[in-house]
Amino acid sequence: MTVIRINAIDVPKDSGDELARRFAARAGAVDGSPGFEGFELMKPTDDRTTWLVVTRWADEASFDAWRTSAAFGQGHRSEAPTGDAPARPPVATNSQVWSYEVVDLSS
Ligand code: HEM
Repeated sequence: MTVIRINAIDVPKDSGDELARRFAARAGAVDGSPGFEGFELMKPTDDRTTWLVVTRWADEASFDAWRTSAAFGQGHRSEAPTGDAPARPPVATNSQVWSYEVVDLSS
């Protein structure tokens, strides 16, 4: 059964666009990970400043394997300074992983 892992990321209001740009640049980073079924980036449309990364996995083991993989570290490393360009610190001020599953209402 599909398991849902949500990363709830707090982002200052004026940094949301930058978060979305960073996701767009790395969106493919998780594709091809065993058991990965897809993800959506959810932007708040009320006064909240918590963005949600809703990921779907074939099972818990698949998520755990990705979470501890080099691919995860690669997709999440902060950019080091290059030439005159400064380092880019994370835009997130806090984050939490939430664990969910879809309720099967037919049974
Ligand atoms: C539930 C699974 C996930 C967890 C636990 C997780 C973990 C985190 C954490 C702790 C942060 C904030 C710290 C930071 O900025 O580095 C973050 C930000 C970010 N994550 Fe994830 N993440 C998950 C899923 C994803 C996925 C599927 C992608 C896209 C391939 C992704 C790409 C990013 C990007 C682009 C940022 C912003 C980094 C920045 O500010 O430069 N994450 N994630």
